[in-house]
Amino acid sequence: MDQIKIRGGQPLNGQIEIGGAKNAALPLMAACLLSEKPVTLSNVPHLADITTMANLLVHLGVDLELLGRSGGGVHAGRTLKLDGSKVSDTVAPYDIVRRMRASVIVLGPLLARFGHARVSLPGGCAIGTRPIDLHLMAMEALGADITLEEGYIETVAKKGLRGAEIHFPQVSVGATENALLAATLAEGTSVLHNAAREPEISDLAVLLRRMGAKITGEGTEIITVEGVTSLQPTDHSVLADRIEAGTYAVAAAMTGGNIELIGARADTMQRTLDVLRACGVTIEKTTQGIRAIAGRDRLRPQDITTAPYPGFATDMQAQLMALLVLADGTSHVTETIFENRFMHVPELTRMGAHIRVDGHTATIEGVKKLAGAEVMATDLRASVSLVLAALAAEGETTINRVYHIDRGYEFVESKLASCGADIQRIRKE
Ligand code: EPZ
Repeated sequence: MDQIKIRGGQPLNGQIEIGGAKNAALPLMAACLLSEKPVTLSNVPHLADITTMANLLVHLGVDLELLGRSGGGVHAGRTLKLDGSKVSDTVAPYDIVRRMRASVIVLGPLLARFGHARVSLPGGCAIGTRPIDLHLMAMEALGADITLEEGYIETVAKKGLRGAEIHFPQVSVGATENALLAATLAEGTSVLHNAAREPEISDLAVLLRRMGAKITGEGTEIITVEGVTSLQPTDHSVLADRIEAGTYAVAAAMTGGNIELIGARADTMQRTLDVLRACGVTIEKTTQGIRAIAGRDRLRPQDITTAPYPGFATDMQAQLMALLVLADGTSHVTETIFENRFMHVPELTRMGAHIRVDGHTATIEGVKKLAGAEVMATDLRASVSLVLAALAAEGETTINRVYHIDRGYEFVESKLASCGADIQRIRKE
């Protein structure tokens, strides 16, 4: 398992190209299962999770072609052509789903197009049990019969799916995406109530509409879908990753640096930018994206609670906590989305952070400096918070199990090194 070694203390200055969003690309790729016609996606990030989704789609019979890079930059995304015309299998096997629970997003499109899908229950992951009951509730509302056998969800809709009113008791990004994909081909009108509003869902709706779907209301809590019977070939560029952009803005703030985030979309990360400004970071819009400039004074403490979009993103919680560790005072971070998303706390503590966790709230007493140490990555966002702390720390940090980072951060070493970071990957068998 690879390690990353970082010698901290340098301000990070320069530009970082922001890639396509992992959490947009995954459902966009799954959308090809709805159609006989090809979907061509550009600005697709080169990440482990994308490879896992590609393997699943090919397993189902999708013809997937890599058409090269989506632009000139060294960190440009890739262009994928996905042709679902020969899809012959409707079973998502445990061996693939266990590696990436987002695989469950193939359920809706397979069921809608073929009237059948057999998807392994994903199992939990480090940050929580992560059930899929809301996904299944939506499929049942659309007319599917659902049984659970041998760890697989068997869903059947012999007469096809029929439009329905779907009321989500709590906001769920994945369940909203599965319902949106399934409703695209359901007969009649579907209305999704208490739908998630994340920009990645709006990006999926834009693709589906370009394919011929009839969707309104994305980005609000009520999405209406008129089912259609066929879809058209479509090209689409994956939305810029608001979490990657937020992560590197925090890197600038923590190291006393100044980084322009090329391609970042301020309109998709307003809450994050508001919090960074409240901490004393200067955030400027540029012609190419966003610039984050560390303030001269120590960062200001904040009280943050994660919430569904447009609230403060749970996927930015660990990164912000790393920043607050250096703030001049006491901060509180409350995690409301996942039940176990503080695994970065003991690792940050090893580097000199003063953090106390009571249930879902962490209290952070700011310290003037951090010291490098050997630490362990545990999940995607917790891992990158350790990178951020290491960049600001005095001395050397070794981060183990960096495969967690590779799931969501493309070219992490070269992007940070291009801004002056002393960072290297140690390849381990
Ligand atoms: C998506 O996960 C993202 N993943 C997550 O990003 C993100 O943290 C999350 O949305 C919240 O924004 C992808 O888009 C691939 P949810 P998802 O359904 O869809 C519970 C990252 O780091 N729930 O909105 O799984 C669930 O347990 C990842 O990039 C049910 O109870 O999240 C959680 O507590 C991590 N039943 C809450 O709802 C269900 O059927 C929100 O989950 C579904 C979810």
